[in-house]
Amino acid sequence: METVDTRSRLRDQVAQWRLSGETVAFVPTMGNLHDGHLTLLAKAKDVADRVVASIFVNPLQFGPFEDYDQYPRTPDSDEQMLRDMGVDLLFAPRVKEMYPLGREQGTKVEVPGISDILCGLQRPGHFVGVATVVTKLFNLVQPDYAVFGEKDFQQLVIIRRMTLDLCLPVKVLGAPTHREADGLAMSSRNQYLSEQERAVAPVLYKALADVAQDIRDGRADYVDLCEWAAARLAESGFRPHYVEVRDTVDLRKPDADSKELVVMAAAQLGRARLIDNVRV
Ligand code: PAF
Repeated sequence: METVDTRSRLRDQVAQWRLSGETVAFVPTMGNLHDGHLTLLAKAKDVADRVVASIFVNPLQFGPFEDYDQYPRTPDSDEQMLRDMGVDLLFAPRVKEMYPLGREQGTKVEVPGISDILCGLQRPGHFVGVATVVTKLFNLVQPDYAVFGEKDFQQLVIIRRMTLDLCLPVKVLGAPTHREADGLAMSSRNQYLSEQERAVAPVLYKALADVAQDIRDGRADYVDLCEWAAARLAESGFRPHYVEVRDTVDLRKPDADSKELVVMAAAQLGRARLIDNVRV
């Protein structure tokens, strides 16, 4: 595996593969890789001849009081993991390489409507930061496929919509959430949990899985079900931000046309802001 930190070297390498007719799959990450990322990389390997991964902790998607500085950075073990997975190229740019003219005044990509609800309510500007960096990365890598985790369900819906709206020639693929044995969705932020909080954390998944099961069993009183789940989280020591049932296509509230639903939640547990979702 080759590691490059400049846009020109990334482009040169990908251009060579393209010239020889090879397809490219891309897995963007913020590093601190865990088994959840391996699922994304495995999917990328399945669909294309070459796999490009990126590691970039994108400052544009962190709010002023969020964990940009503390976000865990583990470049050496990440590189080893990517090598072991058979990734062909790692793009690990510095902030200046991604935002050479500065990031505050630069062009931003906004997907209205679905960016300022749910997680976007608590994290204003977060999804503009995500959509902007993913657009830049797509333009740099020019992949045939890009793989994102379904754990960040709102992010996935936003990226799908952005890709359609901006006519980006990339097939966006979702990969299922990888869970610990007790159900907790894998996330770099799980390491913020104390031992006691880690023991409580799987309640988030259990509460969502129970709501999803109730809906499968025929209940349609979504508001009551979500209030019940939020109360269960609060009793267990979480500070719930939201628990919502939404349409998987555009995250609208369920209506007569909804075909598939997802139960989504975000909740604070100690220092960690955890998110999760379960499809109905
Ligand atoms: O999901 C993530 O790790 C990030 O939001 C992404 C997609 C790499 C953009 O910075």
